[in-house]
Amino acid sequence: MNVVKCTLAAVALSLPLVTQVQASCEAGEVKVVMSLVTAVKGHPKGETASALAERVNTQMNGRMCMEVYGSSELYNDDDVFQAMLDGKVQMAAPSFSKFSAYTQKLQMFDLPFLFDDPVHALDFLASEGAQKLREEVRPAGFVGMGFWSNGMKQISSTRVLRKPSDAAGLTFRVQPSDVIEAQFNQMGASTKRLAFSKVYGALESGEVQGQQNTWSNIYTKDFHTVQNGVTESNHAYLGYLVVMPASFLDSLSRDMREEFVALFELTTHEYNRFSFETNQLRRQDIIDEEVLVIRLTDEEKQVWRDTFTPVYDQFSNVVGQDLIDAVRAAKSE
Ligand code: LMR
Repeated sequence: MNVVKCTLAAVALSLPLVTQVQASCEAGEVKVVMSLVTAVKGHPKGETASALAERVNTQMNGRMCMEVYGSSELYNDDDVFQAMLDGKVQMAAPSFSKFSAYTQKLQMFDLPFLFDDPVHALDFLASEGAQKLREEVRPAGFVGMGFWSNGMKQISSTRVLRKPSDAAGLTFRVQPSDVIEAQFNQMGASTKRLAFSKVYGALESGEVQGQQNTWSNIYTKDFHTVQNGVTESNHAYLGYLVVMPASFLDSLSRDMREEFVALFELTTHEYNRFSFETNQLRRQDIIDEEVLVIRLTDEEKQVWRDTFTPVYDQFSNVVGQDLIDAVRAAKSE
């Protein structure tokens, strides 16, 4: 196999390293600080957050200002919840897997091969059933503002993975989700829960030998440069629940809250549609750097599906069979 690894310099040349959107907040303006673990530029979540900040800073100038900090510069996803409750940050968009301390239901998104593609996911996220999931974080003091989309996950490794059993004996970095752990266990692999900011170092040092993520996360964090291939499995969906502390929203005047929510909803609607395209661009960036991308035949893909079927037996009661049925029903013909 011909695997050429890119240099960090090449990555830096192709995508500027922007980690922040800073606003010059004036006295008297209400400040919204958003903390992200991902890149800001060239990433679906970062681009959506930047667009929202730009709108807030233009259209609500003098009353509200918004800053976005990316790449875990402020917090990791496990400590951002407390930072929000402490009033240090007013907005975050952790992936669904990061909410297991508050609800088991969002782990449904981690079920392998539940979503066919990002369009299917967006159709479900627009449904009444999905919108109700936003309420799951209310008892913990958060308002679920809405969903931001990333895309489908791929699996990268130091080994070339054509079938799930090729991963036997390897250790994969996972998000804090029992469902994801069960998925890798079905492959005969072990797992290690690590914050997103620790993944590159763990792959580079060999602490873990693989991970799963979207093209945009893999490319913007250089994971592909320390792996020997990426299997285009498209096996699960990565999306985010955007959360804000209820106490912060309650402290705003009604007009200001409504204006902010309207800008949030408009930006969400417009930018979620770009998430697929952004991931396809990052996929091409990876291919352009001559990293091995392993495309699966239909027969091979069926082996992956069959391998992961037992995960449903384990978790359909935990996440709720009704929710799984609702996702399947949301598939447009
Ligand atoms: C991860 O931890 O792999 C992702 O949740 C990062 C992200 O926010 O996309």
